[in-house]
Amino acid sequence: IDYGTRSEGVTDDSQAFLKAWNAACSSAVEHPRVIIPQKTFFVNPIKFRGPCKATKITFTILGTIIAPNWPIAWDGLDSSQWLAFDNVNGLNVDGFGTIDGQGKGWWDQSCRYHSQLEQCTTLAPTALKFLSCNGSSLSNTNFINSPQTHVLIKGCNEFEVNNVVIESPRNSPNTDGIHIHSSHNLQITNSKIGSGDDCISIGDYVSNVEISNIMCGPGHGISIGSLGRGGTYVKVEKIHISNAQFEGTTNGARIKTWQIGKGYVRNVTFENLIFMSVKNPIIIDQNYCVPRGSCKQRETGVRISDVTYKNMYGTSSTKIAINLNCSQSVPCSGIFMQSIQLESAHAGKQVAANCNSAFGEEENVFPGPCLSKSKPLIN
Ligand SMILES: *[C@@H]1O[C@H](CO)[C@@H](O)[C@H](O)[C@H]1NC(C)=O
Ligand SMILES: *[C@@H]1O[C@H](CO)[C@@H](O)[C@H](O)[C@H]1NC(C)=O
Ligand SMILES: *[C@@H]1O[C@H](CO)[C@@H](O)[C@H](O)[C@H]1NC(C)=O
Repeated sequence: IDYGTRSEGVTDDSQAFLKAWNAACSSAVEHPRVIIPQKTFFVNPIKFRGPCKATKITFTILGTIIAPNWPIAWDGLDSSQWLAFDNVNGLNVDGFGTIDGQGKGWWDQSCRYHSQLEQCTTLAPTALKFLSCNGSSLSNTNFINSPQTHVLIKGCNEFEVNNVVIESPRNSPNTDGIHIHSSHNLQITNSKIGSGDDCISIGDYVSNVEISNIMCGPGHGISIGSLGRGGTYVKVEKIHISNAQFEGTTNGARIKTWQIGKGYVRNVTFENLIFMSVKNPIIIDQNYCVPRGSCKQRETGVRISDVTYKNMYGTSSTKIAINLNCSQSVPCSGIFMQSIQLESAHAGKQVAANCNSAFGEEENVFPGPCLSKSKPLIN
């Protein structure tokens, strides 16, 4: 308001936001803070750039920030983003306000569900991006109806997400809750995520991630992947996912890789998970491909090893509750499963486990057993 916002969510306030940001970013005070008061602000696509003078800067959202509700607002602009912080260190985004992506216009023209439209789009804006950052955080904020991914963390080191709520309809296309790419040393805790795609997804270059106390649903679960699309060399390791609850999701604990990919996924632990009517509670798909089955059989693959599944119970809405579908050429190894009890979500129905080229040990796992015990030959 001090920097000239004009309205209650009707005319574009992005220039005022930018002025407020630039004032904070160039400020010589030790800890500048931008405060978005408890009103509604309409903001066009905008990038908050660093580096900033201060080593710590806070962006407090108490009000509601709404996006243009029609894709035409992005004409001539980068349609992959709405709000972004780029190259800012020591940034804390907090406040109990709401970031409303007004994504319906994008969903209605998305190729995912409207491929018959001549002008359908595959790329839609991410509501909030954190690009190239160190020692930053996002807490207490609400996100609704992003055109595509809600929160992207890319090129960041030491990032904490705590107590966020993300909400989009079950049938909104590609609306991942939080996507992490090329980032290290992250924590995501105490959050509730429901959307039309993965609640949390982990991309190709990610290590040391702690995810805990998550409620996921609706959505596609917590996914490592898809990895290796286009033949990239994947490096994903030290991922710990614990105390998560999945309700009516298509997947629970998922790892999916493209056959054309290379590299590794290793040292992953999923533990203390509860599934309520989940289609694929535990799944590895090493032959991921869109559309399913359309990719050629290959000799390559992303190597998956040292994956632990521990203390899980609940119900599967399909017959195959455990599906470790690994590649023949690059099998999964070092899988350890312990204390898992899954039943059918439908009274009287049976559940089963399927393992292909999956090697490891299991203890007290139902349905099972299914892993192969012998060690695979390392090729
Ligand atoms: C973050 O820290 C790393 C290592 O200290 C450094 O290489 C990188 O440039 C920093 N990133 C930013 C955005 O300053
Ligand atoms: C596996 O990852 C955990 C963190 O999730 C880490 O503490 C541990 O040292 C890693 N183990 C190996 C063998 O790298
Ligand atoms: C395993 O993957 C293959 C190749 O994509 C697929 O044809 C098969 O249906 C999958 N099996 C299960 C049980 O999902």
